[in-house]
Amino acid sequence: MASEIPNDAFWLFGYGSLIWKPPPHFDERVPGYIEGYVRRFWQSSEDHRGTPEAPGRVVTLIDRTHWDTLTDHHSSPTERVWGAAYHIPSSKVAEVREYLDIREINGYSIQYTPFHAAGPVANSTGSGPIQCLVYIGLPSNPQFLGPQDPDALAAHILKSKGPSGENKEYLYMLETALLNLSEESSDEHVSDLVRRCRSLESERGSQSFDNRAPSNQGSPGEVREELHKIGSTEEQEEVEKTT
Ligand code: BEZ
Repeated sequence: MASEIPNDAFWLFGYGSLIWKPPPHFDERVPGYIEGYVRRFWQSSEDHRGTPEAPGRVVTLIDRTHWDTLTDHHSSPTERVWGAAYHIPSSKVAEVREYLDIREINGYSIQYTPFHAAGPVANSTGSGPIQCLVYIGLPSNPQFLGPQDPDALAAHILKSKGPSGENKEYLYMLETALLNLSEESSDEHVSDLVRRCRSLESERGSQSFDNRAPSNQGSPGEVREELHKIGSTEEQEEVEKTT
């Protein structure tokens, strides 16, 4: 539970929408990766990219040792899950904790994992990995779906939408955000789904979502301003339903 987090500054790792929709407060954003997990569109979304009647699909992380026991139609993933880590200063911990508590309702649980920064870090005491809080939709949560057929998954993402916008927008924004983190941060599972969705869209002659690339340069304020500009839906999607 987020309420168990001490009221100290902490690092939060984002591997999904947090990459392009930062938490409400942070004073440093660092691209980098974690290990020992696999990112998959295996979490059902009833309140953001879908509805209870027609849930969409969003990403979760699967422990690599558990993933090894499953039959996944997608190819073997890389050892690294790329994303962005945010440093939450102690003065903003209460506010960000409230924001994160709201996100947790979706079926995600808190875990801690070492994060490897891809660049210099100001708010770090040592040179090694940084302990990060990460939200994971565990296989035991009701929204966890398990392995998905890639074609069916792409078709499902294309037809889904929820209060936070179209499901395909989430997918396309995720791919763009990942490609902007570093030279090595692409994710074949995500890019494969993008290709399948684009191909289905062109077959159907529908208009593709324009996902303009965000930059990973600049101060947190500049990054947030740019990240805000690229979103076609409101910022802080996980908070929408409570406001
Ligand atoms: C993420 O972007 O890492 C994330 C966002 C909401 C819930 C879980 C994970």
